[in-house]
Amino acid sequence: MILTTFFIKDYLVKSNVEELQSKLLTIDAMVANQIGPFMSNVDNAYTFRYIEDIVKQNSLNHEARVIAIDRMGLVVADSYDVLKGSPLELFEVESALSGVSRSNIYQFEGDYLLYTAVPTYDRGTVVGATFMSIEANSIFNEINLFMEKLMVIFAMGIFISLLISIVFADIISKPIEKLTDSVKTITFGKYDTKVDVNGSDEIGDLGSAFNLMTTKLYQVEERRKKFVSNVSHELRTPMTSMKIVSDTLLSAPSWEEAVYREFMFDINSEIDRLNKIIDSLLYLVKVEKDEIELDYSETYVNYLLEWVVKTIKPIALTKNIAIELISNPKIQMQIDQDKMQQCLLNIIGNAVKYTPESGNVWVELEDAKDLILIRVKDNGIGIPEKDLPYIFDRFYRVDEARARKTGGTGLGLAIAQQIIQLHQGNIQVFSTFGVGTEIIISLPKK
Ligand SMILES: Nc1ncnc2c1ncn2[C@@H]1O[C@H](COP(=O)(O)OP(=O)(O)OP(=O)(O)O)[C@@H](O)[C@H]1O
Ligand SMILES: [Mg+2]
Repeated sequence: MILTTFFIKDYLVKSNVEELQSKLLTIDAMVANQIGPFMSNVDNAYTFRYIEDIVKQNSLNHEARVIAIDRMGLVVADSYDVLKGSPLELFEVESALSGVSRSNIYQFEGDYLLYTAVPTYDRGTVVGATFMSIEANSIFNEINLFMEKLMVIFAMGIFISLLISIVFADIISKPIEKLTDSVKTITFGKYDTKVDVNGSDEIGDLGSAFNLMTTKLYQVEERRKKFVSNVSHELRTPMTSMKIVSDTLLSAPSWEEAVYREFMFDINSEIDRLNKIIDSLLYLVKVEKDEIELDYSETYVNYLLEWVVKTIKPIALTKNIAIELISNPKIQMQIDQDKMQQCLLNIIGNAVKYTPESGNVWVELEDAKDLILIRVKDNGIGIPEKDLPYIFDRFYRVDEARARKTGGTGLGLAIAQQIIQLHQGNIQVFSTFGVGTEIIISLPKK
C-alpha cells in the first residue's frame, strides 16, 4: 500500500506538472509571437507601450508574471514593474535566448513556481525571450488532499485486515490450543480424553483423528490393565493352592507317607498348571507380535486334520466320545503347519473337553472355491449367549471352576484366533447352551 502511494503520487505530480508546463509554454509562445516583430524597436515609445500592454494583459489573463527580455538578456517589460532594465539571469532565459524553449518547476519556501521561457523571433532570428512564471501550489494541494484520502482508506484497510486476521487467527488457534491441552492431559494418563474440535476443515479432521486415537488408546490401556490383573490372578491361584498344601504338611511334625504323596501330587499338578499358563502366555505374546513371520509350507490340510483327530482320539475315547471326520477332500495349500496344528488341537480339543460322556464331535473340511472351511461341531454343553462375544478374550472361561478342573487356562481360543488371523483367515463361533457348539474357520487358499 505504501509503495502504491508513492507510485501514484509520483505519477500524479509528473502528469499534472507536464500538463501545466505545456499549457504555459503554449501561452508563452503566443505572447512571444505577439511581441516578436516589435522587439527590435523597443526604443520607440509607441512600440514599447504596445509590448508593455501585451505583457500586462497576459499577466492579468493568466495570473502569471510575464517578462519580456531583449537579445542581451535585459528586461524590457515586467508585468510587476520591478525588473525593467536589469538582467534576468535565469537558466530558462539563457536557453530561450539560444533558441530553445524551457520550462521548470521550483520550490521556494514551500511555494511551487513554474517557469517557462520561449524565444521571440523577428523574421527568423531570435530577438529576445518571453519569460512567464505562475504559482503551481494548487496542483500540489490537490494531490496532497487526494493522497490524504488515499492514506485514510489504506489505514482503514490495514485496520480491517488486522481485525480479520486477529479473528481468523483466533478461530484457527483455539482448536489447536484445545488439542494441545488434550495431548497434555493424555500425557498424564487420562486416555479417555476427547477434544471438542468439529468442522469439515483440516483442523476438524485432526480433531476427529485425535478422538479416534484416544478411543483406541483407552481401549488398549483397559485391555492392558485387565490383562495384567488376569495374569496376576491366574498365577496366584496355583500359588495359593500350593501354599495351603505345604502349610498343612508343615503344620504337623509328621504325616503318613500316603498323605505326603497325595499332597505332593497336588503341588506337582499345580506346578504343571503354572507352566502351562506361562508357556501359553509366552506363545500368545509371540503370535500377537505383528512382526511375526509365518513359516509357510505346502501342506495337505486333509492330512493335517487327520493327524489332529488321531492325536485327540485317545482322550475322546476316555469319555466315550466319537470324533468323526465327515468330509475330507484333498486340499493342498500354503500353511504354517506347526501353528495351524496348535490351533486345531485346541479347537477340536475344546469340543471334546466341553462335551459330556458319550457325546459326538464332527470335523468337516470343505472346499469353497477361493476358501477352505473347517467346521468343528459338538453336541456338548454349549456356550450361553451372553458369553459368546468374549469367548476369544484372553483368560475368558464360561465356567471358571469347571475349566480349572479340566486344566483350562482360557488362552487357547485367543491363540487360535491370532493364528487364523495371521493366515488372513476368519474364525466364528455358533453355539446354543445345552445343545452344542460349532466353530467355523475359513482360510483363503492363496
Ligand atoms: N466347544 C465348546 N463347547 C463349550 N464351551 C466351549 C467350547 N470351546 C470353548 N468353550 C468355552 O470357551 C472357553 C475358552 O476356551 P479356550 O480354549 O480359550 O480356553 P480353555 O479351553 O478353557 O483353556 P485352554 O484351551 O487354554 O486349555 C472355555 O473355557 C469354555 O468355557
Ligand atoms: Mg481350549
